[in-house]
Amino acid sequence: MSQPVELHGRLFHPFISAQQINERTSALARELDEAIGLETPIALGVLNGAILFHSDLIRAFTFDVEVAYLRTRSYSGMKSSGKVDIEWPDDLSVNGRHVILIEDIVDSGRTLVALTKELKERGAARITSIVLLDKPAARIVPYKPDFVGFEIPNAFVIGYGLDFDGLGRNLSSIYQVVEG
Ligand code: IMP
Repeated sequence: MSQPVELHGRLFHPFISAQQINERTSALARELDEAIGLETPIALGVLNGAILFHSDLIRAFTFDVEVAYLRTRSYSGMKSSGKVDIEWPDDLSVNGRHVILIEDIVDSGRTLVALTKELKERGAARITSIVLLDKPAARIVPYKPDFVGFEIPNAFVIGYGLDFDGLGRNLSSIYQVVEG
């Protein structure tokens, strides 16, 4: 973790350690435990970025939960395209259900705004959003997640599910780009 990493010729320095992520994820799971009612929620992970956060978080839940995923795309390199594509799985129904929406990061806010709209249109009874990282300074459309792991400055990060053009998702810690 103490060493910088290089991906596609760009340098990233250590930012949030695997241990910090692990401790914060356990704390978030305990907070969610208290927020969940009697209903069995669907833990809906947003692919690809939330793969590791989703899998660690659901294992820390003490309540019964169903697990589902969907895929969104909006980023190319370090830039958001401004348009969100949602691939909705054929076998996923959220009608009348409590959905725990699990995402890696909120940046412009467009993805979570688009997903919230889609979930409401498909009849979700309750939506609780939880993001590992929040970059409030990058917001273009207003969005406030219900639960946040870490608030971070507006700089590109990789690792623990987050990628730079396909690389870096498998790193256990989070790294921040070195500008320049
Ligand atoms: P938003 O729609 O702009 O809020 O961005 C959400 C998506 O953009 C996330 O699910 C990530 O896939 C991607 N993203 C935003 N910021 C970063 C970053 O710093 N590193 C890697 N991916 C990011």
